[in-house]
Amino acid sequence: MTAFSPVPAGTFEVHRGRGAFNAAFFSVMGPYIEWNIRARKQRLFADLPQTVVELGSGVGANLRHLTPGTTLVAVEPNVPMHRGLRAAAARHGVDLDLRQTVAEHTGLPDRSVDCVISSLVLCTVADPAAVLAEVRRILRPGGTYRFVEHVAAPAGTPTRALQRALRRPWAWTFEGCSCERDLGGSVRAAGFARVDIEPYRLHSPFVSFNTQICGTAYA
Ligand SMILES: C[S@@+](CC[C@H](N)C(=O)[O-])C[C@H]1O[C@@H](n2cnc3c(N)ncnc32)[C@H](O)[C@@H]1O
Repeated sequence: MTAFSPVPAGTFEVHRGRGAFNAAFFSVMGPYIEWNIRARKQRLFADLPQTVVELGSGVGANLRHLTPGTTLVAVEPNVPMHRGLRAAAARHGVDLDLRQTVAEHTGLPDRSVDCVISSLVLCTVADPAAVLAEVRRILRPGGTYRFVEHVAAPAGTPTRALQRALRRPWAWTFEGCSCERDLGGSVRAAGFARVDIEPYRLHSPFVSFNTQICGTAYA
């Protein structure tokens, strides 16, 4: 079911062609991406509570990590993703509460949530600091934000040079996605009580996507 929660004006625009392309891309490439990061996600998303808020759920890559019967409040502004997301929810027995809005403005009450998750989303949102402030606002004290992200490679490395060279076509293709963000720094700067981050490297052909972090921030 989709709750009526319109995207605030000017915060997100779906490109007709690229919106559909990205929904298809993540449906097709999802299993390959998942194969690369499954072990880390299994650790990160272990012991999730009965209700979870997910930012940028896409076509439902993380639903396999939820216990059947979990309620997922999925914040996903990109309508072309919704069909795949609903299908994934049905496949995995997840009770889907789909909010067509942006992570910067979830519309959820202050201190109302035990757990927020996201994967490969802070790279794409317009304002990561605003999203992290929103996560802090909605989490109860002691609640967790669990994330997986691709980030900028260390300065001066060949991967970093490639990320710089590819930044425009990459952002154009993947609807604003940046390979150049220090998202670990952003999470640490967001004012959480504690932040644990594990950096790691994939060995996929998408070289500029290979430098990643996963972690948990505690409200
Ligand atoms: C790279 S995809 C990742 C999708 C999914 N989390 C995964 O791991 O496959 C980024 C997702 O973030 C969504 N997104 C982009 N901007 C957003 C925003 N401001 N708020 C919430 N979601 C957003 C996109 O629509 C897309 O579904």
